[in-house]
Amino acid sequence: MSETLLSNRPLGKTGLFVSPLCVGGAPLGDMPETFNYSAPEENALATIRAAFASPINFLDTAAAYGDGESERRIGKVIKENGGLPLGFVLATKADRCLQTGDFSGEQIKRSIEGSLDRLGLDCLQYVYIHDPEHTTFENVMGPGGPLEVLKNFKDQGVIHHIGMSGGPIQMLIRYIETGEFSAVETHNRYTLLNRSAEPLLDVASRLGVAVINAAPYGSGMLAKGPDAYARYAYSDAPPLLLERARLFVTVCQKYDVPLAAAALQFSMRDPRVTSTVVGMTKPERVTQTLELANYPIPSELWPALDAIGFDTDDPEANRFT
Ligand SMILES: NC(=O)c1ccc[n+]([C@@H]2O[C@H](COP(=O)([O-])OP(=O)(O)OC[C@H]3O[C@@H](n4cnc5c(N)ncnc54)[C@H](OP(=O)(O)O)[C@@H]3O)[C@@H](O)[C@H]2O)c1
Repeated sequence: MSETLLSNRPLGKTGLFVSPLCVGGAPLGDMPETFNYSAPEENALATIRAAFASPINFLDTAAAYGDGESERRIGKVIKENGGLPLGFVLATKADRCLQTGDFSGEQIKRSIEGSLDRLGLDCLQYVYIHDPEHTTFENVMGPGGPLEVLKNFKDQGVIHHIGMSGGPIQMLIRYIETGEFSAVETHNRYTLLNRSAEPLLDVASRLGVAVINAAPYGSGMLAKGPDAYARYAYSDAPPLLLERARLFVTVCQKYDVPLAAAALQFSMRDPRVTSTVVGMTKPERVTQTLELANYPIPSELWPALDAIGFDTDDPEANRFT
């Protein structure tokens, strides 16, 4: 990746500038039921410290990650640091109640108050509405609903910018077409293995909405390898995905490129993507990720990987019907 590709760029029309790499805070919250392994607090704190000291200026979390644990840990490092590093952008997400499924405006208000408390901040630079596939469009957009509550917080200066983050692609397109959201975060759907987010990337770039592409490793398999971590998007990977991932490894070896570098740069090289969000729980991952982003990749690798094949279906299309 060239220096230009690693320079900060505008986060849509917000006036904020973010690095093309963003540290993903889901595994930092210790979510063994999602990732199949635990993240001890000391590792998580060291990872956040390493991120704050690095050229990466963008960190992504959510009220729900580890039921608040990701934000709590980030808040500890913000406190010891005396605040966020200068120029740093912290994005969090407003969540439904994980116990009851409540996605009301009142719940979103509680979610924001919880985030402020755990992070130890008096305002939040960026807040996404998180996973609205768990409610209806009418609830999110309607009177007294989550969006109205966030806009009230914005009017008071408690929130600076509002985005949309979630799963199903057609749902995300419907939300960004309302013009209410400055960024959209998609996950596990624009990777070497699954490219179902293509239409979203097109619509977002036409509308000037920033695309934040999360989970370039499909939650880990494309970094650790299909034999070390045979999961995609938080579930056991189906045989076809494993077969393709193994072929990716073989082709990458032929070109002397780590699979993780190809998986990361597949997202970073796309001009429609503003920032790529990589989950990590060890401090050395920060430097490794910068090295992978800079790893020289011969142009012939891309068609060779494409030839192996990829899905264009939404991996969770059936999960929320
Ligand atoms: N609905 C949503 O809004 C949504 C959904 C999904 C994700 N996200 C965001 O996007 C972020 C990224 O997604 P993700 O964390 O699920 O998946 P991911 O970024 O595709 O993969 C994360 C996994 O990759 C591993 N990894 C990272 N760098 C590595 C390296 N250099 N070598 C080996 N392994 C490496 C991490 O392992 P270690 O733990 O060993 O470091 C972690 O298990 C999340 O953390 C979250 O912030 C948002």
